[in-house]
Formats: sequence, C-alpha cells, structure tokens
Amino acid sequence: MKFLNSIAAAAALTAAIASYAGAEVKAGETLYGTALKQVSVSGDLSHKDGRLLPTNAIEVLEVKDGVVKFSLTGYQNPKAPNVIYFTPKARIIAVAFSKQAKFQSESLGEEDGFNKVKITAYTDEGALSGDVDKIFAGAKEKFEASCSVCHALHQPASYEANRWPGYIKSMLSRTPISKDESWTVVQYLQKHSKDVNLKDMK
Ligand code: HEC
Repeated sequence: MKFLNSIAAAAALTAAIASYAGAEVKAGETLYGTALKQVSVSGDLSHKDGRLLPTNAIEVLEVKDGVVKFSLTGYQNPKAPNVIYFTPKARIIAVAFSKQAKFQSESLGEEDGFNKVKITAYTDEGALSGDVDKIFAGAKEKFEASCSVCHALHQPASYEANRWPGYIKSMLSRTPISKDESWTVVQYLQKHSKDVNLKDMK
C-alpha cells in the first residue's frame, strides 16, 4: 500500500508541476522562468551562453520549433557587462552571460551609474509561467517551511537584497531545499527585502 501511495503521490506531483509550468508560450506574452534556465545567444540551444534566473520578466518575440526568442530589460554594470541585473540598486541577477558571449543588446540610457539595456536571446519553452505571484508563493512556502526549523523565521524584509544570497548559501545544506529550488527562493527573498520590494516597482 505504501508503494501504491507513493506512486499516487508522484503522479499528483507530476500533474501539479505540469499545470504550474503550463504557460502558453507565444509571441507578445510576458513570461517568467519558474526555474533556472539555459540561454543561447544564437538560437542554437546546444550552445549554453548564459542563464536566466527565475521570476525575471521576458517578452516573447518569436517561437519556432521549441526555441523561444525573447527580450529582457535590465541593468548592466559597465565594468562587468555580462551580467544583467533586475535593478541598478542591488545585485539581483536577471541574466548572467558567460564572459565571452556576444549577446544582442540595445542601450536604453543610464541610471545610477548602470546602463539600462534590452537584451535579446533564446531559450527553450520549458519552465515558463505567466503568473509570477504563483512562483513567489511557491518559494515563500519552501522558505517558511525550511527556514523556521532551528530559529524563528528571518523575514525577507529584515535584510538588504545583497545579503540574501550569502545567507541562503550558508544555510542551504541544513535544509531540504535543493540547489535548483534555491535560485527561486533567493529571488523571492531579494525581491521582498529591506531595500527592494516588487510592489514599489509595479
Ligand atoms: C539546521 C538548523 C538551521 C536551519 C534549518 C536554518 N538555519 Fe539559519 N541559522 C542556524 C544557526 C545555528 C544560526 C546562527 C549561527 C550561524 O550563523 O551559523 C543561523 C543563523 C541564520 C541567520 C542570521 C545570520 C546573521 O549573521 O545574523 C539567517 C539570516 C538565517 N539563519 C537564515 C536561514 C534561512 C534563510 C534558512 C533556510 C534556507 C535557515 N536559516 C535555516 C541554523 C539553521
């Protein structure tokens, strides 16, 4: 019986994941990664030129044979232009290209010493959702269940955005949160932190 129960549980989980990531991926949609995604600059997805971090908005430009061409607007430190940040105010990574990747980028001006840019790249159709609040809700649940076992929960807004990646890194091995899941949890914490809050930006 135990065995059958676990099969039923696994089937339910698979169904939940399928509906969770079941966004319609078509041109004109604004979508968000539900997990860390590989990015290519050429459209050949076997070339892994960078990574798109979960919960960052992409505009779908074109979908062809499972390849999604997208743009993303973010901020670039002129001294390390391969990383595109979510905001010029904190180190919240939206896309990290490898140092040698030659990605398409359009300049949208300057803000707080950062270049505002719109980059264009490619990814696959998987792990995309139109509902960013749902992705955050999943991360919040994980965080609250895993991070209040040994001490009271440290609220997201108790620390500045730049502190959270280090805390998660040092605490991760003590929790059931996997490395894969940790990317979404970090984005959730950074975007609900003391100095950066999504609500202020909408
Ligand atoms: C197995 C027990 C355990 C779990 C689970 C745990 N922590 Fe901790 N945490 C500690 C201990 C012990 C300390 C204090 C000493 C230290 O920093 O190691 C601490 C300290 C902290 C601090 C304060 C650091 C500072 O310098 O003020 C933060 C923030 C924190 N934990 C966040 C988290 C988060 C986020 C999670 C979930 C990913 C988590 N913890 C899960 C044991 C745990």
